[in-house]
Amino acid sequence: MLYNGPLGGIEIYKKRRQKLMEKIKDGVAILPSNPEFIRNNDVHYDYRQDSSLYYLTGFTEPESVAVIAPHYKHKFIMFVREKNPLRELWDGFRYGVDGAQEKFGVDQVYPIKDFESVLADILKGTDKIYYRLADNREFDEKILSVLERVRLSKGRSGAGLQTIADIRQVVGELRLFKSKEELDFLRKACEISAHGHIAAMKFTKPGVWEYEVQAVTEKEFRMRGSERLGYGSIVGRGPNATVLHYIYNKDKCLDGDLLLIDAGAEYGYMTGDITRTYPVNGKFSKAQKKFYEAVLKVQKSCISKIKPGVKLADIHSHAIEGLTEEMLELGILTGNAKSIIQKTEFSKYFPHGTSHWLGLDVHDHGLYRMDGEPRRLEPGMCFTVEPGLYIPLKDKTAPKEYRGLGVRIEDDVHVTPKGCEVMTGLVPKDVEEIEAIVGKSE
Ligand code: GLY
Ligand code: MN
Ligand code: MN
Repeated sequence: MLYNGPLGGIEIYKKRRQKLMEKIKDGVAILPSNPEFIRNNDVHYDYRQDSSLYYLTGFTEPESVAVIAPHYKHKFIMFVREKNPLRELWDGFRYGVDGAQEKFGVDQVYPIKDFESVLADILKGTDKIYYRLADNREFDEKILSVLERVRLSKGRSGAGLQTIADIRQVVGELRLFKSKEELDFLRKACEISAHGHIAAMKFTKPGVWEYEVQAVTEKEFRMRGSERLGYGSIVGRGPNATVLHYIYNKDKCLDGDLLLIDAGAEYGYMTGDITRTYPVNGKFSKAQKKFYEAVLKVQKSCISKIKPGVKLADIHSHAIEGLTEEMLELGILTGNAKSIIQKTEFSKYFPHGTSHWLGLDVHDHGLYRMDGEPRRLEPGMCFTVEPGLYIPLKDKTAPKEYRGLGVRIEDDVHVTPKGCEVMTGLVPKDVEEIEAIVGKSE
């Protein structure tokens, strides 16, 4: 697979580029690869391709650029690293110019060292470029020097610099609507993620360490074919669960704790994003159960509202209303629901959004508002539903039995013509199901 061109075949990527070309018309899209980062000496941090470059090409090597230029003699151009026997001895295979030309459906491939001179030629015939400025300053310099060269080549014609629009926004809109092939990969990423969570549940018992639970989760991901994590796993026991993006994962899980795990596997460059919270000893205490079921009720209710036409912002409002009611019921907040919502007092314990787009990136691209209005859901969109309540241990106002509890429940959904498909439904979330599985390692 590694040497055989893009995952799933070139047609998938061709279709995506076709759609992009319809959007950019006579403009030119420029998408550089992610830079490599050195950890020390000749050791690099793990490399992963930029998601938008990947989306349009399937190409996973660093030091590459894709240029899509509908007006130019070659519409799809790539710049790649050349073959290099010594580097390949140390670091492994690279396609090189001929390999990329043969396997990726490119109209013309050039060595990366020719990027600036070829781009200058391409840009002479366009007024608009689509490029994400201020993401990679080193690459920005190259673009600016090419633009200067193009302007100078126009002499005293009076013609100015091209318009620069953000390519990420245009590709983000394409990425927001998942094709059948994309859904297959995303479903698989969700399924693998689900199995990781199930393995973690079975493994958990008093005395295990957060990093051991992390290891069990991530091992399951890898054993099921996941290439890497979609994001750093969050494994927090007890009050660590009240830290939204807790990543230390270094404490011992104790009898009587709840454990929150937020972890997702990547598959085919798509990622799952699941959170479950459950008792370390396999049995919710009375207070934990009440608190957990409050969040669960709201999460299920949010999911039941999802269908085309509904605004994502309305799902969030629904979560706010539901969690506020539940907090009043539990005695965590007092007063009037309407006024609590108006004054955003709920955010002391529910401080994050309910959803984000999901796909090649865990927080995927795509506009949340269109023409100044919150956007409405359409079939093919995928996102998370993840309400949570977090009561700091040192909180002086909430009832004692809830202090130090953090619960988030997160599933991934795909909007269908009539409602939604929950792609992560395999992982238990009802109290009885959870109690039946936690600590039951085979
Ligand atoms: N895993 C990060 C998030 O849920 O947004
Ligand atoms: Mn999420
Ligand atoms: Mn998450």
